[in-house]
Amino acid sequence: MQVTVSSGNNIYGTLVLPIFEGTETIGATNEGVPNALKAQINRVLSEGDFKGKANSTMTLLGTDGGKAMLVGLGKEADATVHTYRDAGASAVAARKKVHGSEFTVNFSTKDTAAIAAFAEGMMLRDYEYNEYKSKDDDDDDADLSTRINCNEADVETLGAAVERAAGVAGGVHLSRDLGNCPPNDMYPMAFAEKAEAWAKQYSNVTVEVIEYEAAKRLGMGGLVAVGMGSARKPCMVIFTLNGDQSGPHPVLVGKGITFDTGGISIKPSPSMDEMKYDMGGSATVFGTMEALAAIGYDKKVVGITCMAENMPSSNAQRPGDVITTLSGKTIEVLNTDAEGRLVLSDGLWKAGTDFDAEYIIDFATLTGACVVALGHEATGLWSNDDDFRTRIHDAGNDVGELAWPMPLLPAFEKEMTDSKIADTRNLGAGRWGGANTAAAFLKQFVPEKGEGDDAKQVTWAHMDIAGTYWGAKTNKTVGHGATGVHVRTMVRLITGE
Ligand code: BES
Ligand code: ZN
Ligand code: ZN
Repeated sequence: MQVTVSSGNNIYGTLVLPIFEGTETIGATNEGVPNALKAQINRVLSEGDFKGKANSTMTLLGTDGGKAMLVGLGKEADATVHTYRDAGASAVAARKKVHGSEFTVNFSTKDTAAIAAFAEGMMLRDYEYNEYKSKDDDDDDADLSTRINCNEADVETLGAAVERAAGVAGGVHLSRDLGNCPPNDMYPMAFAEKAEAWAKQYSNVTVEVIEYEAAKRLGMGGLVAVGMGSARKPCMVIFTLNGDQSGPHPVLVGKGITFDTGGISIKPSPSMDEMKYDMGGSATVFGTMEALAAIGYDKKVVGITCMAENMPSSNAQRPGDVITTLSGKTIEVLNTDAEGRLVLSDGLWKAGTDFDAEYIIDFATLTGACVVALGHEATGLWSNDDDFRTRIHDAGNDVGELAWPMPLLPAFEKEMTDSKIADTRNLGAGRWGGANTAAAFLKQFVPEKGEGDDAKQVTWAHMDIAGTYWGAKTNKTVGHGATGVHVRTMVRLITGE
């Protein structure tokens, strides 16, 4: 979606008007609105036909040819940037009611953050995955272009904010494209090839692919064990945004299971198709790299994605296998469906040993137990550093992507190291606390830095996006399918803006 910012009054296409509850008439800033349309709008407002409830919409056709869409903002006293973002998204969601490809939004507020959030919501919601539809049966799919009339606000500041939001939305859309892609076309090396093609667009990014044979040679036993049952072999993809500084930098790690059948511990059939989204963590990492590159972020950031397809076959790993991971630690594999933690064990170890990590954050559609705990409303968030966990929680709140603090308890760690024959096991002792035992398992693969008494584990956080990467029905900024969650949280955390 193209968005332009203007201080004029001209209206192109459908006039979109954000309206607070209790508004009885539209104000002086709406000079350009044709008279008959204006009269109609004022009538539905004064007669209470449109009440301005948050995210409600009403479409009006003026007798003089004008079209308008009213979008509710709820009570003015409650309004935040989230209100505006959701309202912008709701306007785009209702777009099919007005049949057109041009919107003009008239704002009466001076608040550039509010206006930019509305534009951001529009851009985020302006997404459909139609790659596999052979015919476009809908004329409304023409690209939407939007003009923002903000004669009260600072046009330059707003223009820059909208441009940045467009760059970040591009990263979110990339994450969704990767997630929505069907698993026959989204397999480990296909992801790697997309990453390599992407890297050609920017002079300051590089992509390295560690293919199956190299992964075996290097000792990536977790990645290899999960991926070896599939004809589509596993790989690790490393994204680098080369910045102008040396020294510590963020390292993001993503679970990239392009399809999770469960392996020999096979999953039941219902909804198994959803396991194409099990590479959501790797899509979050790739999308974040794209967003940062697009907005011209100029410091170093590394992303590591652990790509594998979890299949049952005569080459697949078995429950009972013991594998040796990159860290040298051995794992007794008691359930091949707890595969995300196996690939991440190598990714986390590499993140902390091969890079000067300021911090490591992993993203993973890791456990059904996290969905039981938090539903589709919040990501589970664990960290070995309370302040760092709070920073991520706050960054998520700032952008409207909730991440809820969860506990890393020694008892959970103990439960996961209780193997009779290996250093650790990939399954908890019982069914309770499954999201926490998974997090405790991962913690064992975060390396320490420093010698002797100074040795300290690298600052690390784990984000379980099993409930938030898809199926988040209350999320206004997304329609069907992958949400692209946490690209914006990461941009906020990393850039501070
Ligand atoms: N990819 C799944 C987790 C998942 C389940 C994500 C449902 C989204 C919705 C993961 O690999 C898995 O199967 N985890 C098991 C772990 C168990 C075997 C310890 C689970 O959650 O049941
Ligand atoms: Zn699994
Ligand atoms: Zn999985």
